Amino acid sequence: MRLMQIAMIDDRIVDIRELDPAYMDRGTFFGDGVYEVLRSYDGRIFALDDHLERFARSLSEVKIEGVDIDDVRQRVLTAFERAGIANAKIYFHITRGSEPRSHVGSKGLKPNFFLTVTELPDDSQKKAAGIKVATHPDWRWKRCDIKSLNLMANILAKIEVEKTGCEEAILVDDNGQITEGAGSAFFMIDTAAKTLVTRPLGPEILPSITRKVVLQVAVNASLTVAERPITPAQAKAADELFIAVTTQDIVPVTEFDGVKISAGKAGKYTQILMAEFTKMVSLEV
Ligand SMILES: Cc1ncc(COP(=O)(O)O)c(C=O)c1O
Repeated sequence: MRLMQIAMIDDRIVDIRELDPAYMDRGTFFGDGVYEVLRSYDGRIFALDDHLERFARSLSEVKIEGVDIDDVRQRVLTAFERAGIANAKIYFHITRGSEPRSHVGSKGLKPNFFLTVTELPDDSQKKAAGIKVATHPDWRWKRCDIKSLNLMANILAKIEVEKTGCEEAILVDDNGQITEGAGSAFFMIDTAAKTLVTRPLGPEILPSITRKVVLQVAVNASLTVAERPITPAQAKAADELFIAVTTQDIVPVTEFDGVKISAGKAGKYTQILMAEFTKMVSLEV
């Protein structure tokens, strides 16, 4: 018996069997996939191996099988070369595949790959001036170490803080401790103790590649690293704060929950770290 199956796309009705499989992507139905974002500096991709390693781990943690990471690497390189963009943002994801919506899904579904290469805007002014951030409850799930497509809690937090002119939401867990930014790692500097503080890795935060590089260059800025949770009260009283993310590397935070940080300017050590980060990039790429 041939069952009737129709779909409606805006005002158009179509037989489900004639649909582009992209409409039946489990990524769309469930956010059932994992992703990566990497970037190039002056025509060269930064930290590709780190991103591929994290991607492989994400795939394995969500049990998406049958993906050859060398193929992914080759696709990234091919698309990047074809795009010809010197300072590019490379986004890619793999979802569990396409089929009519069902929670568990069929075994052996072919994973879907999708990638974009786009030009990164010049953000030097923003990085020089710093950004305002505000706290928001961390409503995410308990496996934030996986770079999953499910970003609803991150999006809601960003929408909320943007209403007050903030560029990032700093997420606070049920114990009153900061986990990370909605789309970035979060750092505090105690200038008297010459210490750089950030939350330790664990299931509550993404193992950020930029965080890893920042911790590597901290020694060049004469900073000791302390991996411990930070409370909003400690952040408000901090000498310096910054966020870190692939697309922007280090961005100074000049206001936290309405309180000015380092007199509303990029802090001294933050600026040293920014310079050290740039040096590291030129050595690496
Ligand atoms: C929640 C979250 N934390 C941290 C980061 C920073 O990670 P990375 O340095 O690998 O870009 C991101 C980046 O998108 C993120 O979404």
